[in-house]
Amino acid sequence: MIISLVVKSECICMFPGPEPEPREDVVDESIDSGVVYPDCSDSVFQLTEAQFAQRELVRIAYLRECGKDPSAERFLRDATVPDHGIRLDPRRIEDRVIIALMDQPLIQRTRSIRQLGTAHLVFMDGNHVRFAHGVGSGALAAQAIEIIASRANRMAEAEIRKYSPAVVAVSISHDVGHVATGSHLGESMWFPNEKKAHEKIGRRFVGEDLGFQNCLRTLDSKNPHLLDHVLAIMDEDSSLPPWTWKMVSGGGWNIDREDWTLRDSVHCGVNYGRHDRSILLNNLVVTDEGDLAIRERGLEVMEQFFEARKHLYNSVYYHEVCRVAFEMFVKLAERARELYAAKKLETADPRMQSVLSATTSEDLSVPCLLGMTESWFGYHLEAWTQSRDPILSDYATKLLTRKPFKHFDDTPENRERLTAIVSAAGLDPNYYLLEVEPVEHKHDKDLSSALRVLARDGKVGNLEDYSQVMHAFQGMQGVALGALLAVPEEVFVRGVSFQN
Ligand SMILES: [Fe+2]
Repeated sequence: MIISLVVKSECICMFPGPEPEPREDVVDESIDSGVVYPDCSDSVFQLTEAQFAQRELVRIAYLRECGKDPSAERFLRDATVPDHGIRLDPRRIEDRVIIALMDQPLIQRTRSIRQLGTAHLVFMDGNHVRFAHGVGSGALAAQAIEIIASRANRMAEAEIRKYSPAVVAVSISHDVGHVATGSHLGESMWFPNEKKAHEKIGRRFVGEDLGFQNCLRTLDSKNPHLLDHVLAIMDEDSSLPPWTWKMVSGGGWNIDREDWTLRDSVHCGVNYGRHDRSILLNNLVVTDEGDLAIRERGLEVMEQFFEARKHLYNSVYYHEVCRVAFEMFVKLAERARELYAAKKLETADPRMQSVLSATTSEDLSVPCLLGMTESWFGYHLEAWTQSRDPILSDYATKLLTRKPFKHFDDTPENRERLTAIVSAAGLDPNYYLLEVEPVEHKHDKDLSSALRVLARDGKVGNLEDYSQVMHAFQGMQGVALGALLAVPEEVFVRGVSFQN
């Protein structure tokens, strides 16, 4: 096959426009490429102890003035709940935790962090944010706790109630450490060599936010250890009854996954994540050993949940276009990092300068991390479309206007042809022949810390011992989705086609 090339790197940008005028904020010669902490030390998201106390005074005075009843039921609209609503009863401590925490700046900040990385580029309504997922998880935890407490004897119920406010508090705040853009995508862009950065960041946020801590301290006068319990559950402390942390972060099923399977399905407009939630929650129990379990009669719907989650991964999160776009965002950050180190990045606010200098999230201050929101990233993405660097401007333009690279199976034939095309076009293969890693969702490790089964005969066992489907899941290596190669569509202007 003779391959003709008509595209050069300078003309790949969709909207090349006129040569940009030098900008006021050009930093070519002024940026120090070392790790710096420029002026991003203030944050609008955190409350100091004094600010928290002041806000409480104002809130109480307002309620008195207008005759509002602080004990009135609260109703939250939620697209994933039948009739679109969550009812919160302030007479219940678990619901009071949600009512109080959801107004905290740390939780409100998650309104500006998108839930999904690139799914919105395929599923056009998938633009929902972490806030609803956090509050939804807290409400589900409160609902599940009512069920497990109702089935416990008096002593066991007292033990459950001892930890229940903390379990709800961790459920609502478990994702506060995510950064833009698109939560897990943001982590991969800015901290490519750090695993589970959002968990470490979230722990730092909660550990340093005095307003958040004070809110927990004042919530339940009978429970002076609420904050300690929250931190212990976040750390999956072995001194706690296992149900407390398994409810939030256990393997297989947990409240977090229970929320996002349905929430992501609803917002992405797919059926993959749907399952019979009410039956599943209604069969949760806490065993005599304090472990989380599902009654044997609820196993069918637990199998349904596992299937739903698997299909959601393979059909939504690992959709080929989502995977290609994910890699493009990672490469955008890599290019920005390169330009910044070479003092050639035209637009980078002090926070972006710090982020591009950092190796891990630990190099960044808490206020800096708090400010890594979608509006912060969106400003840079738009500004970078006008960059004098053709690669950065091309990437920014393509991502802003949804022009993902075209993907092909990573076969030897496709690799040879695409390498030739990109090379002949004079394009940098590091940026214009994208290698998208294969993905595989493994279940065996995940099941090792999963909730248990309370059998009809009173015995407690593992999910895979009572369910052939779970047994099969444990043995599965997941459905592997192969590696892809991706190139910009402009290289095909003369109709060169590849086996896809
Ligand atoms: Fe989550």
